[in-house]
Amino acid sequence: MYKIAIFASGSGSNAENIVTYFKDKNLAEVVLILTNKADAFVLERAKKLAVESVVFSSEQLKSGELVDLLKDKGVDFIVLAGFLLKIPKNLIDAFPNKIINIHPALLPKYGGKGMYGDTVHKAVVANCEKESGITIHFVNEHYDEGAIIFQAKCSVNESDTYEDVARKIHQLEYEHFSRVIEELLLEKPEDKLK
Ligand code: GAR
Repeated sequence: MYKIAIFASGSGSNAENIVTYFKDKNLAEVVLILTNKADAFVLERAKKLAVESVVFSSEQLKSGELVDLLKDKGVDFIVLAGFLLKIPKNLIDAFPNKIINIHPALLPKYGGKGMYGDTVHKAVVANCEKESGITIHFVNEHYDEGAIIFQAKCSVNESDTYEDVARKIHQLEYEHFSRVIEELLLEKPEDKLK
């Protein structure tokens, strides 16, 4: 049984979906939800779902303190679901090819520092893009640059507001994210990179 930790900075609707998806399966279990925001709604969700949660500072993330905590809990796979901060080298080295992220655009477009949530959707609408989508990728030391595992697209119409795009993107995320995690765990994530 894989033990998954989820990092999230905001609402945590993806985190909730992942917890629920794996609840009745023997493959994996979400054992920890971690956030850098003490007022993030994901903490309410964790409580409701009876998943242990941890609030940490960016200093604790950088210092490597979290690695010990994750290892103590037996975590073997990490999912970033709406997480704002950059993952430091110490965490990447401790979990090689075991950290994945979901990004609300078709990388390499609209990625990088500061490209988060609605900022991405506003840029997509401002540039009159005809399509957007989601990217699930391995995490490396550079924002949104790790190997791509999966992408899915949606159309963007001329009349779409950034809120419309956000809704479409969330829909894609709910449809695919947990399933892609499941497939990855069944395949063993390290095989995916060969
Ligand atoms: C999701 O759309 C996710 O793709 C995005 O934040 C949202 C979190 O929603 N992540 C990023 O922008 C990372 N750069 P949620 O808190 O409801 O799951």
